[in-house]
Amino acid sequence: MKAIVATKYGPPEVLRLKEVGKPAPQDHEILVKVQATTVNVGDCRMRGFTVPPMFWLPGRIALGFRKPRNPIFGMELAGEVEAVGTNVTRFKAGDQVFASTFQANFGAHAEYKCLPEDGAVVTKPKDMTNEEAATLSIGANTALFFLKRGNIQPGQKVLIIGASGSVGTFAVQLAKYFGAEVTGVCSGPNVEMIKSLGADKAIDYTQEDFTKNGETYDIIFDAVGKTSLSQCKSSLKDKGYYLHTGMVGSELKALWLSVTTDKNIIGGTAVPSKENLAFLKELTETGRLKPVIDRCFPLEQMIEAHRYVEQGRKKGNVIITM
Ligand SMILES: NC(=O)c1ccc[n+]([C@@H]2O[C@H](COP(=O)([O-])OP(=O)(O)OC[C@H]3O[C@@H](n4cnc5c(N)ncnc54)[C@H](OP(=O)(O)O)[C@@H]3O)[C@@H](O)[C@H]2O)c1
Repeated sequence: MKAIVATKYGPPEVLRLKEVGKPAPQDHEILVKVQATTVNVGDCRMRGFTVPPMFWLPGRIALGFRKPRNPIFGMELAGEVEAVGTNVTRFKAGDQVFASTFQANFGAHAEYKCLPEDGAVVTKPKDMTNEEAATLSIGANTALFFLKRGNIQPGQKVLIIGASGSVGTFAVQLAKYFGAEVTGVCSGPNVEMIKSLGADKAIDYTQEDFTKNGETYDIIFDAVGKTSLSQCKSSLKDKGYYLHTGMVGSELKALWLSVTTDKNIIGGTAVPSKENLAFLKELTETGRLKPVIDRCFPLEQMIEAHRYVEQGRKKGNVIITM
């Protein structure tokens, strides 16, 4: 099968289109023919190994010392079940599914991927394209994970920083679904898009500093990892939640800040679950959640896709089609 293989850590050019062995499902696994996948910031970070110095050693232990241990990246996919292992009961050949490969050694940037049937894999929402369904397992799951950890409640004021990105565009829609009053922080060209997703207000961060406008929020969700608690503290209500997608592995820091301030600080990794994916599927089927797609690239243009995502300016999601 065709796959994009990272030959070493480095710039997008380390990625090569190669012929590799087609996987065969174990007894408890399904074999998915991938029809769409995504490139996200995490794929670019794994490829370039751009991690803060304190994460260098744990990062290399987790990902591989000299080169990526799992050289086929790709954290999410949509496609068709081609075959199932002998013990599989949840799926059958021909089922259309979407899934996260986050706990299955990644590998969505390939024509086929085996996944455990009880992993984060769910049948595809009806009337949804593969391109759209491929976006739900990371961006939407991450937005849902953090808003739930922030104990979001109807009527609360929620500020979403990075509202135009993958996590942000889903976070705006989910926060509205949970009944919040939503303000999105984005650049000028994205203001209308954020409002069309349901945001009550949009703040153009190139024109206005939200920390200086006197507003306070129950939840500040930094979906793009551009702020710190000390910057946002005065804009958070007492006992408010500061959610930050970038504070992976910093639970100790968050715990320390939680005991030294009256704010709640949530970081960490949004591990996808089939329960979350089923919930997201229901929201898409009832028209309450719609992925934003910026660009689609064919598998053969993976290098161009990485170059584009790495700029940090994408609107919503970048798709790879097979
Ligand atoms: N913790 C977890 O489990 C987890 C899971 C998934 C993702 N993440 C992390 O979450 C972050 C966001 O991921 P993503 O895929 O949503 O990112 P993304 O789509 O690449 O975000 C890009 C968007 O952010 C906007 N942006 C850039 N700088 C901004 C700023 N200062 N203020 C407001 N908006 C800004 C950009 O628009 P403009 O440049 O036009 O403003 C662009 O639309 C990444 O750091 C990723 O690693 C963490």
